[in-house]
Amino acid sequence: MRFYSLLAAAKINLYLEIIGARPDGFHELVMVMQSISLSDRVTVRSIGVDQIRLRCDNPLVPTDKTNLAYRAAALLVERFPAAMTRFGGVEITLEKRIPVGAGLAGGSSNAAAVLVGLDLLWELGLTQGELQVLGAELGSDVPFSILGGTAIATGRGEQLDPLSGVDELHVVLAKYEDLAVSTPWAYQTYRSQFDSSYLSDEAGFALRRAEVRSGAMVSALTQKDRAGIGRALCNDFEKVVFEAHPQVAQLRDVMTEAGGLGTLMSGSGPTVFTLATSAAEAEAIQKQVCDRIADPNLKTWTARCTASGVRLDTSSKLS
Ligand code: C5P
Repeated sequence: MRFYSLLAAAKINLYLEIIGARPDGFHELVMVMQSISLSDRVTVRSIGVDQIRLRCDNPLVPTDKTNLAYRAAALLVERFPAAMTRFGGVEITLEKRIPVGAGLAGGSSNAAAVLVGLDLLWELGLTQGELQVLGAELGSDVPFSILGGTAIATGRGEQLDPLSGVDELHVVLAKYEDLAVSTPWAYQTYRSQFDSSYLSDEAGFALRRAEVRSGAMVSALTQKDRAGIGRALCNDFEKVVFEAHPQVAQLRDVMTEAGGLGTLMSGSGPTVFTLATSAAEAEAIQKQVCDRIADPNLKTWTARCTASGVRLDTSSKLS
């Protein structure tokens, strides 16, 4: 029996601007994405029957064909039908650490890990670029989840330009366990409120992309100016999620007061994060937030910003 275990990193958005409506119905974005050390473990294992099986230790996660990890395997079976005949089917095991419906790309990271893991298991020999193109068919965040590190993401979010990251940047994350935000809901609500300010042509998109590339966040990252990164944090989704879920706005206020370089909601939420300069500072902020909000529903984590998306779990062995 052969298997590969991979670590699938969560992401945070240091910058997320919705700039307009695309002809394909999606939104045109300019984002800065950052992978973090909070990771799921995804194992792909050869099985004797020509099937895709999915197991997960979190009952909130569906284990049927709707799961993006399942769909990643199905996509590879469709594109490379000989692989399953040669190597047999696959059992995918998801060990979840990344919260679900959190704005941290947990589902996308699992799909990314299945693509990388099956490329190895089925000896497909795909390049990183080819894996990213396949990933974009599954979801806008999947290509970044494969690549990881720090990157400007444009288009639907699938066009990536890597940036040099900031070493030793730490992060505190907090999320109400019983609150999840649907990404399609967040986009629809944003569109219903702000579409009068949308750009709609490629010339306008290109101009705004160029402005963001020469703007405060990218400059601060390039200059490794940690305080500047904290000041430039920005996420358009805060406008709609805070209105619908005032407790998330309140969490952001508490986290801002607790210190660090800056605080922001990630993606379509509802996870809120604070950047910190050291592990000790992150832990002090985490403690202060837990002391201020004595709600058993509030879950917190500390993590590091990392340079990788999906990587082999070196603590597991191939048999
Ligand atoms: O790409 P993904 O499947 O993750 O997107 C989920 C939903 O979010 C899409 O169906 C769409 O409604 C919305 N979306 C969007 N514009 C993007 C990315 C996602 O409108 N750039």
